[in-house]
Amino acid sequence: MAKILLGFMGAGKSTIARLLAPDFVDMDQLLEQKLGMPIKDFFEQEGETAFRQAEQELLGQLIRTDQVISTGGGIVISPANRQLLADNPDNIYLKADFETLYHRIAEDRHHQRPLFLQHSKDQLRAIFDQRQPWYEEAATQVVDVAGKSPEEIIEEIL
Ligand code: S3P
Repeated sequence: MAKILLGFMGAGKSTIARLLAPDFVDMDQLLEQKLGMPIKDFFEQEGETAFRQAEQELLGQLIRTDQVISTGGGIVISPANRQLLADNPDNIYLKADFETLYHRIAEDRHHQRPLFLQHSKDQLRAIFDQRQPWYEEAATQVVDVAGKSPEEIIEEIL
């Protein structure tokens, strides 16, 4: 049974996954390997739809494993992915308010998110508002992460 970490960009999914299991699977990283380029470049060259297709195929493979999986924030957009998640008994939603997440995304110079680069703050807030109920629906555990250290979050999860 896979342990799946869900949440918007900047929620700390990879950081928490690494602490839960050093051999966790980072979907974004694996996709970059498979696609042969950074996600930002793939969005520019092939478009978001092609990225979502690759993301959906990968989730379909990984969800059958028993690994800890850090997803990309857009994993819940696809109805097929939401169905896969509904059938998985261990989905942890790392939840935070939009302002906290926006600040983290904007500060993250190492991880340039195409959605951040392509959208205004208000547009990104609309994306957040749309996804929020999908994360909630898919979650079997919701952890409020705003203002907490990774260690505190891990303690809550365990
Ligand atoms: C995306 C989030 C990113 C990455 C891609 C699209 C999204 O992952 O998958 O840039 O749609 O929210 P992180 O949530 O790890 O930043």
